Amino acid sequence: MSLTLITGASGGIGEAFARRLAAEKHDLFLVARSGDKLRRLCEELVASHSISAEYFAADLAEVGADERLFAETEQRGITVDWLINNAGIGSMGDFSRLDLEREIEMIRLNVLALVSLTHRYLAGMRARGSGQIINVSSSAGFQPVPFMATYAATKAFVTSFSEAIAEENRPFGIKVLALCPGSTKTGFFEAAKIERAFTAKGQETPAQVVDTALKAVRSGRSKVVSGWTNWLVATTASVIPNSLITKAVASGLRNRYQK
Ligand SMILES: NC(=O)c1ccc[n+]([C@@H]2O[C@H](COP(=O)([O-])OP(=O)(O)OC[C@H]3O[C@@H](n4cnc5c(N)ncnc54)[C@H](OP(=O)(O)O)[C@@H]3O)[C@@H](O)[C@H]2O)c1
Repeated sequence: MSLTLITGASGGIGEAFARRLAAEKHDLFLVARSGDKLRRLCEELVASHSISAEYFAADLAEVGADERLFAETEQRGITVDWLINNAGIGSMGDFSRLDLEREIEMIRLNVLALVSLTHRYLAGMRARGSGQIINVSSSAGFQPVPFMATYAATKAFVTSFSEAIAEENRPFGIKVLALCPGSTKTGFFEAAKIERAFTAKGQETPAQVVDTALKAVRSGRSKVVSGWTNWLVATTASVIPNSLITKAVASGLRNRYQK
């Protein structure tokens, strides 16, 4: 049986990955800050799927948390066959007025923890000649997004980084996927203090996003956009100059954030 480590598994897309992979008989190692939620999820998945599921409560935005997580799995003798770097946060507003600490926390979680965990677990995968990494990016990473500047930039990093290391590691039996969901029904928007008006229409469910990811894994892809409409928007954005995109997005949001 493969063991999958999932960050941000206490809710949303990470929890959906845990439920789906448990049903596919993966053993699980779940990480998030909410230890109680992880414990309950592990108990439920062990009981319903006869897998092994352990958890570790950690704030991955804290300096050193990535190292502590890696040491914990080493100490428990856990081999990570699949790594799903899913934990992530966002923010929305006029960058100059957003809380700087929160913006930096976002970069630590969305970028630094993801890079560090990828590097640490990749070493074992390379030694074994197999492994799957899924880095959860976003369709927001396909273009600069005014009033979501830091978040979109972190996701542009995740997509670029993931596609590059996918190619580096192809000869070694390791697959890397950048998963780019669009707007998805999760706790993300509430956590980011983003108004419901931006999320109401055309959202996917976390289960749909996971379904897209696992299909892409099976076909060995290094990047996938979840949802037809999101794919269309991302593809269109790729042929429009960024200066036009940023003007259009900003004109819709300036009144709200720069009154
Ligand atoms: N929802 C969307 O529309 C959307 C679209 C595109 C991409 N994404 C990406 O999808 C990923 C998952 O987000 P989601 O939509 O499922 O949001 P979510 O429901 O808010 O889930 C986020 C998960 O990350 C964990 N987390 C947050 N801060 C953490 C920290 N400092 N350390 C460890 N874990 C932390 C949360 O658990 P705790 O609070 O217990 O720590 C939770 O399990 C993110 O990378 C997000 O950027 C989401």
